Amino acid sequence: MAKGFYISKPLGILGIVLGVAAVCTIIALSVVYDQEKNKNAESSAGAPTSPAATGAPSSPATTVTTTLDQSKPWNRYRLPKSLVPDSYNVKLRPFLTPNQDGLYTFRGSSTVRFTCKEPTDVIIIHSKKLNYTKTPDDHMVTLRGVGGSQPPGISHTELVEITEYLVVHLKGQLEVNSMYEMDSEFVGELADDLAGFYRSEYMDGGVKKVLATTQMQSADARKSFPCFDEPAMKATFNITLIHPSNLTALSNMLPKGPSVPFSEDPTWSVTEFDTTPVMSTYLLAYIVSEFTAVEETAPNNVLIRIWARPSATKEGHGIYALNKTGLILNFFAEHYNTSYPLTKSDQIGLPDFNAGAMENWGLVTYRENALLFDPESSSSSNKERVVTVIAHELAHQWFGNLVTVAWWNDLWLNEGFASYVEYLGADRAEPTWNLKDLIVLNELYRVMAVDALASSHPLSSPAADVNTPAQISEMFDSISYSKGASVLRMLSDFLTEDLFKKGLSSYLHAFSYQSTTYKDLWDHLQKAVDSQTQIQLPSKVSDIMDRWILQMGFPVITVDTKTGSISQEHFLLDSSSTDIRPSDFNYLWIVSISSVKSGKQQQQYWLPSVQQAQSDLFKTTADDEWVLLNLNVTGYYQVNYDEDNWRKIQSQLQNDLSAIPVINRAQVIHDAFDLASARKVPVTLALNNTLFLIKETEYMPWQAALSSLSYFKLMFDRSEVYGPMQNYLKKQVTPLFNHFQSVTQNWTQRPEKLMDQYNEVNAISTACSSGVPECQQLVSKLFADWMSDPDNNPIHPNLRSTVYCNAIAEGGEKEWNFAWEQFKKATLVNEADKLRAALACSKQVWILNRYLSYTLNPDLIRKQDATSTISSIASNVLGHTLAWDFVQSNWEKLFNDYGGGSFSFSNLIQAVTRRFSSEHELKQLEQFKNNNMATGFGSATRALEQALEKTKANIKWVKENQELVLKWFTDNS
Ligand SMILES: *[C@@H]1O[C@H](CO)[C@@H](O)[C@H](O)[C@H]1NC(C)=O
Ligand SMILES: *[C@@H]1O[C@H](CO)[C@@H](O)[C@H](O)[C@H]1NC(C)=O
Ligand SMILES: *[C@@H]1O[C@H](CO)[C@@H](O)[C@H](O)[C@H]1NC(C)=O
Ligand SMILES: [Zn+2]
Repeated sequence: MAKGFYISKPLGILGIVLGVAAVCTIIALSVVYDQEKNKNAESSAGAPTSPAATGAPSSPATTVTTTLDQSKPWNRYRLPKSLVPDSYNVKLRPFLTPNQDGLYTFRGSSTVRFTCKEPTDVIIIHSKKLNYTKTPDDHMVTLRGVGGSQPPGISHTELVEITEYLVVHLKGQLEVNSMYEMDSEFVGELADDLAGFYRSEYMDGGVKKVLATTQMQSADARKSFPCFDEPAMKATFNITLIHPSNLTALSNMLPKGPSVPFSEDPTWSVTEFDTTPVMSTYLLAYIVSEFTAVEETAPNNVLIRIWARPSATKEGHGIYALNKTGLILNFFAEHYNTSYPLTKSDQIGLPDFNAGAMENWGLVTYRENALLFDPESSSSSNKERVVTVIAHELAHQWFGNLVTVAWWNDLWLNEGFASYVEYLGADRAEPTWNLKDLIVLNELYRVMAVDALASSHPLSSPAADVNTPAQISEMFDSISYSKGASVLRMLSDFLTEDLFKKGLSSYLHAFSYQSTTYKDLWDHLQKAVDSQTQIQLPSKVSDIMDRWILQMGFPVITVDTKTGSISQEHFLLDSSSTDIRPSDFNYLWIVSISSVKSGKQQQQYWLPSVQQAQSDLFKTTADDEWVLLNLNVTGYYQVNYDEDNWRKIQSQLQNDLSAIPVINRAQVIHDAFDLASARKVPVTLALNNTLFLIKETEYMPWQAALSSLSYFKLMFDRSEVYGPMQNYLKKQVTPLFNHFQSVTQNWTQRPEKLMDQYNEVNAISTACSSGVPECQQLVSKLFADWMSDPDNNPIHPNLRSTVYCNAIAEGGEKEWNFAWEQFKKATLVNEADKLRAALACSKQVWILNRYLSYTLNPDLIRKQDATSTISSIASNVLGHTLAWDFVQSNWEKLFNDYGGGSFSFSNLIQAVTRRFSSEHELKQLEQFKNNNMATGFGSATRALEQALEKTKANIKWVKENQELVLKWFTDNS
């Protein structure tokens, strides 16, 4: 899947009412989670199933087990290896109107052909919430031999709900190497639970519409038809859909021919699709809707279509995606040295979708705002989101779909890879945007915030530790996505991109239509290395990489420029953390290190897996000479220097910042703040590293600073530090605000480059929140102009998030109500999202409370948006306590609605606990954990542990630093 909810950089700023960009923190801490989860929908937004509620048929054979007897194979979550599927026929008929009981359902029939590989007298196949039609002899299935084999008789069939199996007990053994076919007919609920085969409802021109669609990843194909629902159990699929004649049926493949009338009801049609290639169940997709498409045929004859609500298609919202898809597909075909494996590429924007997007082979599903783009009212960051999510999902069409990791414990390889190459693909589609640089802020720094905690975990988990659907959905976190992306980028950098591509294409060719583990990729990269002599590695690819993926965290590299000594140490934000999980590699890494000395690039250096080494590369001789490591931050590590060297870097930046590359100007700020949090440098050193911003106009350094300072805002926005901090920011940002005011001809034009457009937004949001009066006048005037003529919004889409937020914060009920009306009327999701976030910026407690209550009413706030709305409210200093109280009192409901596996859920925990920095708040959090043990925390379990750890660290940090910080801001403002 794609990452989860996305909080875009400039968009993120919304949440901030007063003060500095709260965004930062949002980005640094929470987005991580969003990413993963939402992006990729993991499946389960749906209500967790209690055994009683699951769809077992009325048959008494249903087993309700609480303690599982593991000697019975149907009590184990992993399938036995005895049967291997070969091909399925699946016929499905979704009813888009409720039956007489008010239930939406689908009917299905399926045949699965499989080979017996080990003798067995039981067939175990996944099935979830399906009711089977009984055969005359009271079984749920019938069994047939293929090619002359004789199946044993069926003794009885049962559904095991807890492990989600249909179990067929046989009177004798299946024969090894024989093939069988098993038929079944069933009914399932077409629920609005965003999982499996589900229904989505939306309003179009005042009329309620219903469509049927799918989200199989990770473990919900079994909710649509009985199947061997594990990624390595690849097979071919013949999908047939029976659907109302005036709607369109889509699936992974093109239809075999025109639809034909359905024999039982002529107002229905039957559409039969081509047989799929050999593929995993989690990549299946089928959709019945009235959607329409824009299309083109790419030069290699691949049909490209972008599907959307008819009105969105008519308004041209699919055009941008259409224009970029061909470029991106060509880029990947070239990059992988493998042509696109299918004959068509459909992409569809859905009004109701849990993940950000899902890479179903040949039929990619998206949230509308991740695919559709309206130039009239979408911002540049909306556009960036569209092009990067498309690139992410299309990257999977090869890496993930053609070659698939065998089990979910290696999800990081699939998602990390796509999260890395999405930047390359998007860069091809928008070559002037410098998108590749953004990986540093968006992935690397985001995930380091989590990976620096003692509660982090290694990228790769043992397969045996990942069994249940809940454990699978825990894999979809920022570590898998963003750390995966960061270490693969580092690998590609030290191998060189050419060598990396060579190994990659050899891996893809060797394992097409099969499944792998990460070791297979290392092997093929090693072969590429061995086939040449130019690039020399200090050890095998696997020796180097295993240290990055089998142990959690990353090193801080410390350089003493007086001696040239260089050392490494596991970086922990709280260095007093005990109870760190043991590592076979003793938390030492083999690190490729790039450096510059006083602006001159030096040769690359390999730090071996020792605590300390020495090299003249890192030793300075002249008084004004300085050293800087990790050029363009291609390495996944942080850097600390002796104080002298830090001081020289600071003077260099204040005198002539152009001597240090933009990304490294961001790094100097980012690393220093993290080091200060970890007590490795004084907090004042980190603050001193922001002094040069008064001359800085580039986005990345500003964004790094706003992110880092957002932590200060969270810790101090309820204290006396707040005023002096505001004053300092006001002083630093005023030149930037003036710069953009002049560049944009008094805010009437947009800067040309994307990064400048982003920084224009930073300038406004920071200036407004730190109290630059011209800024407050600007936003209030723009908003008032809109209110006086609601049909003509004069605010440029790029500026809307920050203008709405600041105007609503400055305004009262009238402004809020106007924005709420506009939200309800908004037809474009991007616009609705901006308003929804900005509505959380109010400074009126009663308004925020009322807004919170709206999140429990799906008619007011869509289900998919509820948790992110609560999170926005929590990011407002005035809404923080309200949101926390709200989550505590409604935990059970929230859990039942979202706890199963949505990304957004762990974000929610993070959002409402982000400011916690007192003993009292720690007690509340512990109390909350104890009170809700019985309900559980689902996909937020890990987030809760992280919140506890973070709160303890915050308490300590505030105690130690409040005085110093207050003095520093007072002295420097
Ligand atoms: C699916 O269709 C293909 C092509 O017609 C056929 O070879 C295969 O046997 C079918 N699968 C099943 C389970 O019948
Ligand atoms: C399946 O059977 C159960 C138990 O009889 C029933 O409650 C449920 O509604 C049925 N599901 C469908 C989709 O018919
Ligand atoms: C399809 O037909 C149904 C039943 O006649 C009708 O209610 C619905 O509006 C039609 N939808 C479209 C998109 O034409
Ligand atoms: Zn993905």
